[in-house]
Amino acid sequence: MQNYISLAQIDETAQTIRKQISIQPIAGIILGSGLNHLADSVQQAVHIAYRDLPNFPVSTVQGHVGRFVIGELEGKPVLVMQGRIHFYEGYTMGQVTLPVRVMQRLGIPCMIVTNAAGGVHPDFNPGDVMLITDQLNLMGMSGLNPLMGPNLDEIGPRFPDMSQPFDREYFDLARKIAKQNKITLREGVYAGLSGPSFESPADLRFLRQIGVDAVGMSTVPEVIIARHGNMRVLGLSGISNKANLDGSTVTTHEEVMEAGKVITPKVEKIIRGVLRAL
Ligand code: HPA
Repeated sequence: MQNYISLAQIDETAQTIRKQISIQPIAGIILGSGLNHLADSVQQAVHIAYRDLPNFPVSTVQGHVGRFVIGELEGKPVLVMQGRIHFYEGYTMGQVTLPVRVMQRLGIPCMIVTNAAGGVHPDFNPGDVMLITDQLNLMGMSGLNPLMGPNLDEIGPRFPDMSQPFDREYFDLARKIAKQNKITLREGVYAGLSGPSFESPADLRFLRQIGVDAVGMSTVPEVIIARHGNMRVLGLSGISNKANLDGSTVTTHEEVMEAGKVITPKVEKIIRGVLRAL
């Protein structure tokens, strides 16, 4: 397998999608573990399974469907990823972030990214929603930055700025919508680890000390790729479990999926509100 995905491959994948849709999506929405149901509300939906797309990796995690749903939400044309691709499945960073590259080549200016995360901030509880105000690229710090390899000059610069990974205007919008809907919106820093093992108590104490509020196994690479191409990004974490800093409780995938049921309606309200304002 070749190491890096080329612009020609990205365009091949984007073209395959473009041929099947008649709308121009204005937002790409990535749904995290347990948050897939939002895709079922998309109107006039066209479904494109990842397995039917050239160059596309297929998501293998239970609870992840693995398709694009393209249609309308709140009357706005959107492209929804029902099921994302995780690095821990064994794919390269290029494969993990190919969907974001495809969004860029489809001319989509905005990305709304969601995930399930462990609450590291002591006040966070399962079921909470956190507005991601910044991210900690722990995968990148260990040599796994998705921009490694030849730079795609057509999309962005070799050394892209990351001073504003998440869009500040979207912060205000998300806060306003949460308030209108009486949703308590937490805010904080999301750290991306490769997984798939959950964190040890020492990992979690370390994360807390370096300023992390929520931890998960996704999002960070996608946001870097999105910002490389100058997309505006809104990030929301669903807190599915309390990080276990003293080792007294066990974290399971089932717990993560179960919490998704409480989180989905809140995340859905915020996303719908944001789309209305776009
Ligand atoms: N750690 C990492 N990823 C996660 C967690 C967690 O506790 N919960 C959901 N995704």
